[in-house]
Amino acid sequence: LEIKAVRGMHDLLGDEAAKWQYVEARIRSILETFGYSEIRTPVLESAEVFTQAVGDNTDIVEKQMYTVQDRSHPESGKSETLVLRPEATSSVVRAVLEHQLHRAPHPQRLYYVLPMFRYERPQKGRLRQFHQIGAELIQDPSPEADAEMIVLLDTIFRTFGLKDFEIRINSVGSEACRPQYKEALKAYLHPHLEALCEQCKKRYERAPMRILDCKVESCKVIAEKAPRMVDHLDAESKAHFEGVKSRLREARVAFVEDTSIVRGLDYYSRTAFEFTSSLLGAQSALGGGGRYDELASRFGAPAFPAVGWALGFERLIMALQAKDLLSGGVKKPDFYFAPLGEKAFEALYALSIQMKRQGVSVEFSYERDKKLKWLMKQADRSGARFTLLLGEDELAAGSAALKNMSTGEQEKLSLADIEAELKRRACHEA
Ligand code: HAM
Repeated sequence: LEIKAVRGMHDLLGDEAAKWQYVEARIRSILETFGYSEIRTPVLESAEVFTQAVGDNTDIVEKQMYTVQDRSHPESGKSETLVLRPEATSSVVRAVLEHQLHRAPHPQRLYYVLPMFRYERPQKGRLRQFHQIGAELIQDPSPEADAEMIVLLDTIFRTFGLKDFEIRINSVGSEACRPQYKEALKAYLHPHLEALCEQCKKRYERAPMRILDCKVESCKVIAEKAPRMVDHLDAESKAHFEGVKSRLREARVAFVEDTSIVRGLDYYSRTAFEFTSSLLGAQSALGGGGRYDELASRFGAPAFPAVGWALGFERLIMALQAKDLLSGGVKKPDFYFAPLGEKAFEALYALSIQMKRQGVSVEFSYERDKKLKWLMKQADRSGARFTLLLGEDELAAGSAALKNMSTGEQEKLSLADIEAELKRRACHEA
């Protein structure tokens, strides 16, 4: 076949889709328990949403955005450049400002489950269309808010029994102390400029902190001895960071301080964190986030405090599968209906439709004249809990046989009240 899905973008089929639904439903339920409500923003946004919010110097804006030229306006002849959302925090802040949610009297807790698009080199754990579940807590400056966010993500991973991850946190300071730190960092890096990789040479002027998380060995060696943001925090940011850490200790959430966490997006201030897992290979981040109190001002709006994270859905599924923690999820039908003969087919066809309309799941094949052996094979394959067998003799006698597929036991049911009997079993043992 010549026509295929776009590189780095995947179809989701059958059992795989069922597992996603299961994982997603559990996460939604935790988010709702923590008081978050869903927000869905459009896939396309004006390019400025990301160029302004995420920052021109980031890989995402420089190299990874899928842009779409909109049709030109019939009168002005102008056309707008649109972008397929590469991340959703910028979209959420755009929506918050547009609907004035930041003016509400209470902090707003929002979550999303959305596809993202980044033009990256596809590899294990790195896709061009991938999915994030994210949460944003708007209008709360307190360290308790940051701690809540980290505890929430920890709760989500642990609910599936996943323990193989580390929480790495850092403070990237605020507008009040970051400029001085950047100067100190540049002064340290200056004599090493020649030894930095080509990309870091470019970062030196515009985004020197990104040099700290460069993966090139020669840059890593230089970064190791660089001055650290945590030692240059002003009193307020320092107190805030200490507050976040002590709340995490109180909640018994283990973390490590990692001064190399600066994140690939440059809208963060104060807390920045990543959840990493050795189960994932090179792309080890299960999720990440932080505080972004200065983001709204990049849209020319008054700033408001906010903190959030996003987890990579495909990476979470990968980690759960690696640990065999995804056995739940695939839904099986309650019943497989097996008709022997034409009259039984007619009766079970009608019954199967009635049952499905009443919320009971039934698998029934429209292939006629099948033998018992074929039917039982199909029943096994379907994973149904019960098989309802109906032959001509039983039909004449007004009864059917119900086989429990896990115990092998068989019982006789009267056709007169068959619907009620099946419903009772479907909900009782679900
Ligand atoms: P991010 O670190 O760019 O943050 O992405 C969050 C997570 O999405 C990553 O930790 C990773 O699990 C997953 N991810 C990123 N890129 C890919 C990819 N190409 N393929 C598969 N998975 C990927 C953000 O997007 C921020 N908006 C998070 C945030 C929310 N900060 C504050 N609020």
